Amino acid sequence: MVQAVKIACAISKTKIVYTKKRKEMKSALEIKPDISYKSAGKFEETRFEKIHNEIFKSSAEASVIVAQEIAQLIRSKQEKNKSCVLGLATGSSPIKVYEELVRMHKEEGLSFHNVITFNLDEYYPMSKENNQSYHYFMHQHLFNHIDIKPENVNIPDGTVSIEELNQYCIDYEMNIKQAGGLDFQLLGIGRTGHVGFNEPGSHINSGTRIITLDHITRVDASSDFNGIDNVPKRAITMGVSTIMRSKRIVLMAWGQNKADIIKRTIQGDISSEVPATFLQNHPNATFVLDQSAASELTRFKTPWLVGECIWTQELKSKAIVWLCQKTKQSILKLTDRDYNNNGMSDLLAQEGSAYDMNINMFNILQHTITGWPGGKPNTDDSHRPERANPAKNE
Ligand code: GLP
Repeated sequence: MVQAVKIACAISKTKIVYTKKRKEMKSALEIKPDISYKSAGKFEETRFEKIHNEIFKSSAEASVIVAQEIAQLIRSKQEKNKSCVLGLATGSSPIKVYEELVRMHKEEGLSFHNVITFNLDEYYPMSKENNQSYHYFMHQHLFNHIDIKPENVNIPDGTVSIEELNQYCIDYEMNIKQAGGLDFQLLGIGRTGHVGFNEPGSHINSGTRIITLDHITRVDASSDFNGIDNVPKRAITMGVSTIMRSKRIVLMAWGQNKADIIKRTIQGDISSEVPATFLQNHPNATFVLDQSAASELTRFKTPWLVGECIWTQELKSKAIVWLCQKTKQSILKLTDRDYNNNGMSDLLAQEGSAYDMNINMFNILQHTITGWPGGKPNTDDSHRPERANPAKNE
């Protein structure tokens, strides 16, 4: 809840900026949220972040903005009579982007006649007709509904024999190069930190190749395959270096179950343990997130560490409980120094002293404790702690 408030505050700050701009512009309708690349970590509250990211209230809203960037790229290439080379992803994350591109094609005449696509990955072995194949997915969500030339669609082929696979992967890389390289790469992220199917351990210089899937990845895919035993153990994937050579990268992540890996990717050290961290070195990569996926970033999770806060009662409780865990102290033992050393000096100034704040919070938390086994119904507990002074002997 506190995170939601904080994220809402961040978004409303953005709105203030828009409002200011609005005065300078003729029409508010001209203002569109901007996801173009900006360098990361430039402000006090984003100081721990190493990848540019933009946060939206919903994945639907964000997906429309991503689709608009792709459409704009396609159109600008058309104006120059050039082809537009897109790297595409599968999974649930990009579905709404494809939906919006299809809508733009049908309702706004967006043409894909100059578009060449290369998909990131495919399970191995996998037939094209199998409805769990990425080949099937891409046709169902995008290619069957737009005017792309079938010969311009490239998806790793899960039916190539194991003997021919090495050469097949080399050719896939060559085909990307010959098409002029990727202009834009759309990405999702797996809970292992994989992009494409570049699982932990993938090298920065890896190219298109066959890879063994991580157990977590197979668990995540098991519902699509009716059980983990049916999930292929391997896949063909573009490599980290293939992805890194793209001129522009947009990675999308939605939902709480991506929050942890998003934090590690944006704020952690670069390591092949989390292959997505290699994107920290890309000069034009943007992460587009919803509020839940962003919720573990320091500026939302522990906002007092990166700037001034509006200290609601809820945020105070959250911060003080966090401080107890961090310092391994009970509430009544927290000192002014603990508050000052952990980004809470403004709270201390507001509340007076650690002594008063500790007792106040102790009392608040005490009232959240119920009797065994779950509280006596209708019992008045407004006088806890019972008395300030010891009872006198009469
Ligand atoms: C699969 C794909 C990835 C995708 C990931 C996340 O592993 N190979 O390209 O990013 O799933 O999937 P989702 O978007 O469904 O969370």
